[in-house]
Amino acid sequence: MLVNAKEMLDLAYENGYAIGHFNTNNLEWTKAILLAAEAKKTAVIISSSEGAAKYMGGFKTVANLVKNLHDALGITVPVAIHLDHGTYEGAKACIEAGYTSVMFDGSHFPIEENLEKTKEIVRLAHEKGISVEGEVGGIGGEEDGVASAGELADVEECKNLAACGIDFLAAGIGNIHGVYPADWQGLNFDRLKEISEAVKMPLVLHGGTGIPDDQIKKAISLGVSKINVNTECQIAFAKATREYIEEGKDQQGKGFDPRKLLLPGTNAVQALVEEKMDMFGCENSAK
Ligand code: 13P
Repeated sequence: MLVNAKEMLDLAYENGYAIGHFNTNNLEWTKAILLAAEAKKTAVIISSSEGAAKYMGGFKTVANLVKNLHDALGITVPVAIHLDHGTYEGAKACIEAGYTSVMFDGSHFPIEENLEKTKEIVRLAHEKGISVEGEVGGIGGEEDGVASAGELADVEECKNLAACGIDFLAAGIGNIHGVYPADWQGLNFDRLKEISEAVKMPLVLHGGTGIPDDQIKKAISLGVSKINVNTECQIAFAKATREYIEEGKDQQGKGFDPRKLLLPGTNAVQALVEEKMDMFGCENSAK
C-alpha cells in the first residue's frame, strides 16, 4: 500500500535525517527508485511533475504504475506518490487520481492568493488522508519550461503558509533546479535557520542536484527533511545509456532489445538513488 508523506517526514524531522524525493519519468525510473528504497530500507517519495505525468499518460497512469509496481516487486518500505510543483487544477486532479501526496506550488501568485488556494488544497487533500507541500519563494531554474530566479523566502510568508495546515514547506533559500552555475553563492543558511525556527515543521530542499554534500548535511541539521533530486538521475541515465551504445552493445546479439538497452541506465539511476539515500542519512530508517 502506498502511504502519504507526512509520517515519514515527521520521523525524519524528529530524527535528523532526510527522505529522498526522486522524480519518475517512466517504468524503468519507477522500478529503480522502488528497488533502491527497498535495498536501503528507507521510505521514499516518488514524484511526477505535471509534464512527466502528461508524457506518461496522465495522473492515473502514474499512480497506478507506482502502486502496481510497488505490489509486484514486494516492496515493504513506505512509499508515497507525490505531485511535484502542482498547479491548483493539477493538485485537485491528483487528489482524485490516487496520488498520496501533492505539492501545490502557488509561489508565483501574490501571497494572499497563494494562502487562499493552499488552504483549499489542504482541505481537499486532508479529507482523503493525502499530505500537502506548499511553497514560498520561487526556486530558481527551469521546471517544465517555467523559469524562475532563485529567491530567499520571506519568513513571515513562510509562517503564514505553514498556518494553512500544510504538512511540509518548500522555501527558497538560494537553491535552483538543474545544474548550478559556476558562480552560485550556495545555500543561505541564515535564512534557512530563521525559517526553520519560525515554522518548526519539515522543510523541503528542491534542486538537490549538485549541492555539495556538506551543504546538504548542514541543511538537514537545520530542519530540511525532504530533498528533491531529478536532473542528476537524468544525467546518470543518459551517461550509462550512451556508454552502452558507444561500446556497440546494442549491435551485439539482441542488445537492441529495449529490456537490455535500458538496463544500464536503470541500474545507474538505482545506484545514484542509493548513494543519495546514504548521504541523506535515511538508510535503515524503515527497518
Ligand atoms: P534538480 O533537477 O535540480 O535535482 O531538482 C529537482 C527538484 O527540485 C524537483 O522538484
